[in-house]
Amino acid sequence: MSAKNLTDSFGRVMDYLRLAITDRCNLRCVYCMPEEEGGDPVSVLSLPRIERVLKVMGSLGVKKVKITGGEPLVHPEAAEVVRLAKKAPNVGNVTLTTNGLRLARMAKELAEAGLDAVNVSLDTLDPARFLSITRRDYLHRVLTGLDQALSLGSLAVKVNCVPTADSPIPDLLALANLAKSHDLHVRFIELMPIGLGKGQTGLDPAVLMAALAEAVGPLRPVSRQFGNGPAAYYALPGFIGKIGFISAVKSCFCERCNRVRVTADGYFKTCLHMDRGLPLPLDDEAAMAEVVVAAVRDKPAGHLFAQDDGLGEERPMSRIGG
Ligand code: 5AD
Ligand code: SF4
Repeated sequence: MSAKNLTDSFGRVMDYLRLAITDRCNLRCVYCMPEEEGGDPVSVLSLPRIERVLKVMGSLGVKKVKITGGEPLVHPEAAEVVRLAKKAPNVGNVTLTTNGLRLARMAKELAEAGLDAVNVSLDTLDPARFLSITRRDYLHRVLTGLDQALSLGSLAVKVNCVPTADSPIPDLLALANLAKSHDLHVRFIELMPIGLGKGQTGLDPAVLMAALAEAVGPLRPVSRQFGNGPAAYYALPGFIGKIGFISAVKSCFCERCNRVRVTADGYFKTCLHMDRGLPLPLDDEAAMAEVVVAAVRDKPAGHLFAQDDGLGEERPMSRIGG
C-alpha cells in the first residue's frame, strides 16, 4: 500500500478522514433529519469494518480522523472506535463531532481512549428554540455534557452553531459569549444547501459579525488555525476562546481541500456537496485501498453549490456527517 498515496488530480493531498460510524441520531434537527425515520435503512458500521477502514486510510497517509454520524455517541462502541483510530498507522489527531446528549456520561471514557478534541453542535442556549430546532427538549443534557468535557481539561472543545435567517441575534450573541467565560471556541457555520438544508435559509455571517462587533468590540483576525478546518478565527476583547466563521458556500475553500469522507453505509465520498465517490469493499483491505486511491484520483475540483444542475448530493446530512 505504501507506493500509493492520496494525492488527487489537482495535486491536493488528502490527509483528513471524516468517518461516519452511524447515521442514527437521538435528535431531529429540522435542517438535517426528518421527524420520522424511514425511507433509507439505518446504518451502523461494525467495529471490524471500522478497524479495517482506519487501517487502510492510515496506511495511505491519513493523519487526522474526525468521527461523525448521525450522532457518533449512539454507536454502542464509540470509545473503542476512538481507541482504534488512535492506533491506526500515521494517525495522530482524533476528534469527534457530537450533539452532546451523551457527553456527560461518555466524555471521560472518550478522553481516556485518546480523544484529542470534541466539537459540540449547539445552535441555541434558549430551551424553547432548542426544542423547535432539534424537536427534543434536551438542552440541559447538552450543557451538562459541555461542562463535563471542559472539566476534564484534556479535551479541546469547540461549539458549532448553524445560524438560520430566523435565528435571533441576541440568541447567537449569547452562544458566542460561551467563549468569553469558557476555554472553548465558538464557530458559526454557514448553512449548506444539502438535504433538508435546501429548504432553509442561512444567516449572512456579515450580519452576525457586525452585531458581535457592536455588542463586544472589534473582531481581530487571528492567523493561527485551531483544528483541521477552514474556519476564519477572530479574537474578541475579554474573551478566552475565539469566534470562528466557516463559510463553505460563500467563500469556497475547495482549492485547499484535504478531506475525504466515509459514510456509515460504507460509501467513500470525495466531496461534501457532489455525489462523487465509490462504495468501499469493507471486508477486503487490499481491494478497499484500490478503491480509495481510484476515487481520490477522481475527486472533483470543488462544490457547485451555486448551480442546481443535479450533480449535488441527495443524501441527507445525517448520512454524510457534515
Ligand atoms: N449545513 C451546514 N451544517 C449542517 N449540519 C447539518 N446540516 C447542515 C447543513 N445543511 C451540521 C450540524 C452539526 C454538523 C454535524 O453538521 O449542525 O453541527
Ligand atoms: Fe442529529 Fe446532528 Fe442531524 Fe441534529 S444535525 S439531527 S444532532 S445528526
